[in-house]
Amino acid sequence: MRIDIISIFPEYFAPLDVSLIGKARERGILDITLHQLRDWTHDVHRTVDDSPYGGGPGMVMKPEPWGEALDAVAARSPSAPPRLVVPTPSGRPFTQELALELSAEPWLVFACGRYEGIDARVIDEYATRTRVDEVGIGDYVLAGGEVAVLVMVEAIGRLLPGVLGNELSAADDSFAPGAMRNLLEGPVYTKPPEWRGRRVPEILLSGHHGKVARWRRDEALRRTVRNRPDLVTRLDPDTLDKRDREV
Ligand code: ADE
Repeated sequence: MRIDIISIFPEYFAPLDVSLIGKARERGILDITLHQLRDWTHDVHRTVDDSPYGGGPGMVMKPEPWGEALDAVAARSPSAPPRLVVPTPSGRPFTQELALELSAEPWLVFACGRYEGIDARVIDEYATRTRVDEVGIGDYVLAGGEVAVLVMVEAIGRLLPGVLGNELSAADDSFAPGAMRNLLEGPVYTKPPEWRGRRVPEILLSGHHGKVARWRRDEALRRTVRNRPDLVTRLDPDTLDKRDREV
């Protein structure tokens, strides 16, 4: 997969050199290119923002540098434009489902806004040429889109074939589709069997796969009820059995 990221702070993306995503890049699974938006300005101050029409606080990102930047990046393959993702707290929610959908794209461009956002005509213009999604990573306001893009690239990148060591581990995640869909993962343990007087639940040491699976599901249900009651209403009734309803 190819990813281009346009930002006035490309240095924000240093973490993409390390760990899982860094390795995926080294191995050629992920091809990430960072771009400095100011490279597409033409004044001595390399201006990217201006005051909002209609008044109000803050500044708005000017359309011209964005238009030139997006044209230049997309020009690498004029016949198949990239899907454009614009991080903004007023976008649609970023979910595991959207991460999975985006992980199937051959090419994504992330346009990181700062200040009060990007002049809306940029999004309208590109929406006539390609798929554009404005996406929010949560109900809070960050200083800009850069951290949101780090979050999205990591969530998308780990779903690419060959990135996770154990291909099964993504299927097990909280929010992954399947039998445990919309259930949070329960607690996990490793050796030693006793630490500071606390024992690992005996069932996990029993070697009884059926009972372990049932225990894990019970714990997942309990944790979901406690931490994310909103998710309980989204559970598919067909996937619930009598024992689930007791938990
Ligand atoms: N930019 C600022 N806050 C954001 C958020 N919550 N999600 C995505 N982009 C943002």
